[in-house]
Amino acid sequence: MRLDIVSIFPEYFAPLDVSLIGKARDRGTLDVRVHQLRDWAHDVHKTVDDTPYGGGPGMVMKPEVWGEAVDAILASGASDGSEPGARPRMIVPTPSGRPFTQELAQELSAEPWLLFACGRYEGIDSRVMAHYGERMRVDEVSIGDYVLAGGEVAVLVMVEAIGRLLPGVLGNAHSVVDDSFAPGAMQNLVEGPVYTKPPVWRDLEVPSVLLSGHHGKVARWRRDEALRRTVRNRPELAAAIDPATLDKHDRKLLDELSFRVGPEDMAN
Ligand code: ADE
Repeated sequence: MRLDIVSIFPEYFAPLDVSLIGKARDRGTLDVRVHQLRDWAHDVHKTVDDTPYGGGPGMVMKPEVWGEAVDAILASGASDGSEPGARPRMIVPTPSGRPFTQELAQELSAEPWLLFACGRYEGIDSRVMAHYGERMRVDEVSIGDYVLAGGEVAVLVMVEAIGRLLPGVLGNAHSVVDDSFAPGAMQNLVEGPVYTKPPVWRDLEVPSVLLSGHHGKVARWRRDEALRRTVRNRPELAAAIDPATLDKHDRKLLDELSFRVGPEDMAN
């Protein structure tokens, strides 16, 4: 997968040299290219922003600089051996974008080429997204309901979530299947607690069922704990559990927690 990242702070992306993503780059699974947006600004001050039309606080990133940067990256696709006319999918991090979810990470991990356009200040002139939206897929994406100083950290989050899904990036192929939010059996449940050796630490014991070697009981216990944690930490996810996926034991546990799932008339 090829990833192009455009930012006025390329230094932000140093973490992409380490750990799983760093190794994936060394192996060639990931081809990450970080670009300095100011390289496409032509005045002496390398200006990338200007005051907003209509007034208001802050500055808006200028369309001409972004246009030159993105055009240059698109043109480089023609010389990197990719299919003729290949276009990246463009991702613009912004708190007003669609939510970044595990499902979107999965979808993006299947793309051969992504281009991340990091805005600062009040954002990028909207005509940039309108223009490229007619030429390729453009998504404005938010990593959560809070406001960062710019898109750089959001891009680090997205690249890590997407990168670890690429074949061969994680050592243990099973670990992405069991992830919280992964599509499949435990959908709508977050993962429960985990333990390792020693069996007793500071008077705290590992739950004995995990030492029992009884796979059925371990699986049941893990599901109970996932349900408990989902009810406690993510009640909105728990409320969206499809009642048809709950067995008698699940329903009893949810009852004990005084938690109702699904429409009122379907509970229990
Ligand atoms: N830029 C600033 N805040 C952001 C957020 N929450 N998600 C994505 N990009 C952002």
